[in-house]
Amino acid sequence: MKSTAKKRIKRIDSRRSTDSHWAVRRQNFYDSGAPASILLLIIFIIISSIALSIKFPLIPEEGFWPEFQSLLILMAIMSFISLALGLYVAAYEPQILKNHLRGGVLLTSLLIMIGIVRLCMLQGWTTYLLVVPVMITAIMMTIAYSQRFALGVSAFLGMAGVMALANQEAISFKQGMGVLLVTGGGTGLAILSLREIRTRTKLIEVCCFASIVVFIMIVVVGIWQKDSFSSILLHGAWGAGGALAVGFLMQGLLPLIEKVFRTATNMTLLDYGEATKPLLKRLAVEAPGTFNHSWQIGMLSEAAAESINANGLLCRVGSYYHDVGKLLKPLYFVENQAENFNQHKELSPTMSRMIIIGHVKDGMELMKEYRIPKVLRQFTESHHGTTLVEYFYHEATKKEAENGRAVPETEFRYPGPKPPSKEAAIVMLADAVEGATRAMQEPTPSRIENVVHNMAMNRLQDGQFDNCDLTMRELHVLEESLVKSLCGMYHARIAYPKQEKLSQSSLETVKSGSSAK
Ligand SMILES: [Fe+2]
Ligand SMILES: [Fe+2]
Repeated sequence: MKSTAKKRIKRIDSRRSTDSHWAVRRQNFYDSGAPASILLLIIFIIISSIALSIKFPLIPEEGFWPEFQSLLILMAIMSFISLALGLYVAAYEPQILKNHLRGGVLLTSLLIMIGIVRLCMLQGWTTYLLVVPVMITAIMMTIAYSQRFALGVSAFLGMAGVMALANQEAISFKQGMGVLLVTGGGTGLAILSLREIRTRTKLIEVCCFASIVVFIMIVVVGIWQKDSFSSILLHGAWGAGGALAVGFLMQGLLPLIEKVFRTATNMTLLDYGEATKPLLKRLAVEAPGTFNHSWQIGMLSEAAAESINANGLLCRVGSYYHDVGKLLKPLYFVENQAENFNQHKELSPTMSRMIIIGHVKDGMELMKEYRIPKVLRQFTESHHGTTLVEYFYHEATKKEAENGRAVPETEFRYPGPKPPSKEAAIVMLADAVEGATRAMQEPTPSRIENVVHNMAMNRLQDGQFDNCDLTMRELHVLEESLVKSLCGMYHARIAYPKQEKLSQSSLETVKSGSSAK
C-alpha cells in the first residue's frame, strides 16, 4: 500500500515539475517577442504572395480558381523562403525579433521592393533591372545592420524576385540563372566594398564598380544564352545604368535611411565629431575640463573598441558627448574645479548626489535640444549605468550614522539604463578608469593595471554589463588596451619600479575621484 502511495506522489511531483517547466518555456516564448514576430511574418507572406501574383486584368477571363490555386502554391513557396529569412534574422540580428518596429520597417521595405520588382515585370522591362531593388535593399541593410546580414536579406529578395519573374511568364532555367547571377554579382560586390562610408562619394563609387560588374556579367550571360549582340548591349545598358542610378538615389536617401533605421554612418559620425559642432563648442567654452576629459575618453575608448573589433569611431564620437550635461553646472565636477576649491563642501551629500546624478538627465535634454542622433545619445544616457555615487553615499552614511539612520544604497545610484551595447560599455569603462588614474598621484604601469582591473571587475560584479553582449575574453582584451593607452597618456608622470609603493592616501584619492565623476 505504502509503495503504491509513494509511486502516486512521485507521479504527481513529476507532473507538477513538467507543468512548471512548460509554463516557464511558454513564458520565455512570450517574453522573447516571438508571437508578434510570427504574426508579422505571416502577414508578410500573405501580402508578398498577393503582390507577386498580381496580373492585369485583375479579373481573369478563365475565372478565379486557377489564379487562386497558383496563389496558394506561391504562398507555400514564400512561406519556406520567409521562414529561412526569419531563422536568419533570429540567428544574426535577434534584436529585430524583440523590437517589432524594426522588424516592421524591415518587412515593409522588403514588401515595397517586391512590389517594385513585380511592377517592372508587368511593364515588361528587362529582367536584369531586378538588380535595382535588390541593390537598394542590400545597401540599406549594410548601413543599418551589417554586411553579413545584408548578404542574407539580398539573397532572400533575389529569390523572391525570380519567383515574380517565373510567375509572369515561363522562363527557362538559363534565364532564371542569368538574372540571379547578374543580381548576385552586382549586389555582392556593392555589399562587400561598402565596409565604411567615410566620404560623401563612397556610395556612388561603390555603385559605379557594381555597374561595371553588372555590365560584364550581362555580356557573359548573354553570350551563354546565345542572345543577339544588340539585345546583349541593350540589356547591359539597362542593368548597368540601373546599378549606377542606385548610387545617386541612395546618396540622396542616406539621411532618411539613417533616421528610419536609427543609425549613423561613419560619415555622419565624423561630422558630429567635429569640435566646431555647436554643442561641443559650448562644452569647450563653458566646461573646458569636461571637454578635455571627453577628448581623452574618446582616445581611450576608440583604441579599446578597435582591439575587440567594435566600432571605434562610434565610441570616440559618443565619448565627446557623454558628459555634455555637466556644462549646466560645470563647477560641481572635479575636472572643472580649481585646486583646493570644492563646491560640494557647502552642500549636503543628498544635494551633491542630486547635482552629480542630474548631469545624465541634463545631458539627454541637451542632446535632444541640439538634435544629436539617437545612436550617440546612448552614451550620455548609460555611461554611468546604475552605478553607485560612492563618495557621497559614504559621506551620507557617515552623517546619518550619527543619527542612527541607515541610507538606502538605491538613493545614491544613477537611474540607468545599463550600457545597451559593447560600445556603450567601453565608454563606461574608459570613463571610470580615466577618472581614477587622473586622481593618482604617482601612476606606475602596475598601479594603472590594478586600477583598470578593479574597475572592470567592480562593474562586472555590479551587473553593469548585463545588457550588452561583452564576453569575458573581450573584457580582458579591453583591460589590456586601456592599460596600454593610459600608460602612454601619463607617460611623463609615470614613476617606474623604484617608486612603486601604493600609499594609502593615493588609494583614497582614487576612490573619491571616481565617485565624484
Ligand atoms: Fe558622467
Ligand atoms: Fe565622464
